[in-house]
Amino acid sequence: MPTYRVSPEHPDPRIIEEAARLLKDGRLVAFPTETVYGLGAHAMDPDAVAGIFAAKGRPSWNPLIVHVAAAADVHVVAASWPAAAQKLADAFWPGPLTLVVPRRPDVPDAVTAGLPSVAVRVPAHPVAHALLAAAGIPVAAPSANRSTALSPTRASHVARTLGDRVAMILDGGPTTVGIESTVVDLTAGQPRLLRPGGLPLHQIERLVGQLDTPDPMQHADAPRPSPGMMERHYAPRARLRVFGTESDDAVRDELEQERRRGGRPGALLWSDRCGGVRSAAASVVSLPPDAEGYARDLFAALHELDENGCTLIALEAPPDGPGWEGVADRVRRASTP
Ligand code: TXA
Ligand code: MG
Repeated sequence: MPTYRVSPEHPDPRIIEEAARLLKDGRLVAFPTETVYGLGAHAMDPDAVAGIFAAKGRPSWNPLIVHVAAAADVHVVAASWPAAAQKLADAFWPGPLTLVVPRRPDVPDAVTAGLPSVAVRVPAHPVAHALLAAAGIPVAAPSANRSTALSPTRASHVARTLGDRVAMILDGGPTTVGIESTVVDLTAGQPRLLRPGGLPLHQIERLVGQLDTPDPMQHADAPRPSPGMMERHYAPRARLRVFGTESDDAVRDELEQERRRGGRPGALLWSDRCGGVRSAAASVVSLPPDAEGYARDLFAALHELDENGCTLIALEAPPDGPGWEGVADRVRRASTP
């Protein structure tokens, strides 16, 4: 699996051309976006798309996001483009926002999992943009991790689990947003939030009014409004326990017990209020106390604790409030029930 390091700002056009050629040939290329690394394939080539599902071990009912170089290109996959889509695209593309709109019939069923809609996004990362522009095709790309595992925010995260399954990895350094895009469905009357993510909710609602938020429990059976609402997801190998600072002593005891049992306790903290947990953990990673910084570093921190061999991670509950929805969602899905 060749990994090519490219400048995140000015990637070498020869390397980008080579990656674009592989994509057009139906091969898989992992590349950085501003959110997480994506595992890309030619979106209009059903065999190439099948390769994504095989490499990830992803269930075929979970549809993919199609990436295009510019908003003007959505018509390759979208049958119609609601006014709200244009408004959101004007405001937030390129960026960490995915829009679900009616699909064109020639989009392979494998991409949309047979749904009448398709998810599209214009990523902001210069490497992703250069690749999409050079390839001149729509690129289907889920996060470049095995299904249900942690998303990759570094090329090394991709190499560790998918390295032997891709034709090329473009290493553009750490991603800057750090959690996946916010997904908004525009196929019903009122825009619906399908997945909170890198773009804060209040920024979207300022433009299109309050979003409908489907209750995941109500959709426990298929058809799921967004299969990505699958409960356990984004999870590290270690058990993960979320705690409030008031239970510092109890959690410290749990970590000490884990160590006595031969396990390795870890902690993921953002405040300095958890002295007990900090002292009981064998590995401690600190995250920034602001939503953007926390999101940027969260997955890398979980990857690091996994690499350190942690068997139990105590995670200090992040703050809540506007802008924290994406983080809250990922922490909830990463935690062990
Ligand atoms: O930031 C991101 O969105 C990253 C980067 C690589 O762009 N991609 C990503 O893809 O997170 P993935 O496959 O891990 O998540 C795609 C999400 C899933 O929750 C999926 O169910 C939803 O988008 N989705 C895709 N197509 C859909 C559709 N037609 N209707 C409803 N949900 C859809
Ligand atoms: Mg994913």
